[in-house]
Amino acid sequence: MAGAAMKLFGWEIRRVPAEAAPPPEAAPPPQVEAAPAPPAAPDATSFLSPDLLRREAWAWPTAAEIRRQLLGQDAGRLWLTIPHGHKWLSYFEVYEKVFAPLRGRAPRILEIGVDRGGSLDLWTRYFGPGTWIVGVDINPDCARFARPDQGVHVRIGSQADPAFLGAVVRELGPFDLIIDDGSHVTSHQIASFNALFDAGLAEGGLYFVEDLETSYWGHRTGQLDTPVTFLDFAKGIVDLMHDPYRHLDYPAFRIEVAEGTAIDAPRIARIVDEVRIFDSVVVFTRRTRMPPVVEYLE
Ligand SMILES: C[S@@+](CC[C@H](N)C(=O)[O-])C[C@H]1O[C@@H](n2cnc3c(N)ncnc32)[C@H](O)[C@@H]1O
Repeated sequence: MAGAAMKLFGWEIRRVPAEAAPPPEAAPPPQVEAAPAPPAAPDATSFLSPDLLRREAWAWPTAAEIRRQLLGQDAGRLWLTIPHGHKWLSYFEVYEKVFAPLRGRAPRILEIGVDRGGSLDLWTRYFGPGTWIVGVDINPDCARFARPDQGVHVRIGSQADPAFLGAVVRELGPFDLIIDDGSHVTSHQIASFNALFDAGLAEGGLYFVEDLETSYWGHRTGQLDTPVTFLDFAKGIVDLMHDPYRHLDYPAFRIEVAEGTAIDAPRIARIVDEVRIFDSVVVFTRRTRMPPVVEYLE
């Protein structure tokens, strides 16, 4: 059959005898292919139903409603008596939800951002006798708001400077509550979190970051100076809480398997117990967690 031709669907197919086949060419040098670009992250909101995405009017409350709302919250009622304040009014409900368990317990507080001393005053009165509060500000004028005899301290430096924050923690910490109401620059918020969350908070302590709307104002204000918003950063921490599940399957978490062994996890996964998100606010709780284990009951 060597060299024979046959017809297939009108085409002539000619077989070339093996011995007559041309020698294989030298293999071409391997091509280094560029790694394929990862698929662009889908916009999670595109999965929402059109009903939930429908835009509609959101009416402002009346002045009377606002006043009633503020007077209904202890923090709001106190704040109305302190001059020079400016705050998103929705925060007072959030303060009540998050801070109430610390009231009357003489908490140790670190607040980044002193400005005219309004919140130093608010928090000493809201949390009650024995409150120990340290205000941190880059503006040296803020030192005048210190009243060490009443537990109000001020230290001057930048929240973007981990050495400064470390010195504050060594001198005056650890804290039950850290509030970031400083520059609202994303890189500063992240630098402060890195310097303070583990080293500066006591077990069970809260890390409260406010004014995250500034991330959405973005480059117009210069406050979004990182490729991610602070809320993206917070979502990354939520993902790291779940890091072990990425690497291990269900049977690996059985308690009898786990006994005497350990799973590998980033430190943040072990010490962040809760991440709460409100409008423009995120709150992290620092508490050492039990590693994930599963028990099969007979
Ligand atoms: C919004 S005000 C604080 C308001 C205050 N917490 C209150 O509620 O009354 C922000 C403060 O952050 C301070 N600030 C700006 N950049 C800073 C930085 N890099 N480090 C520390 N403080 C900073 C400003 O000087 C300003 O006093």
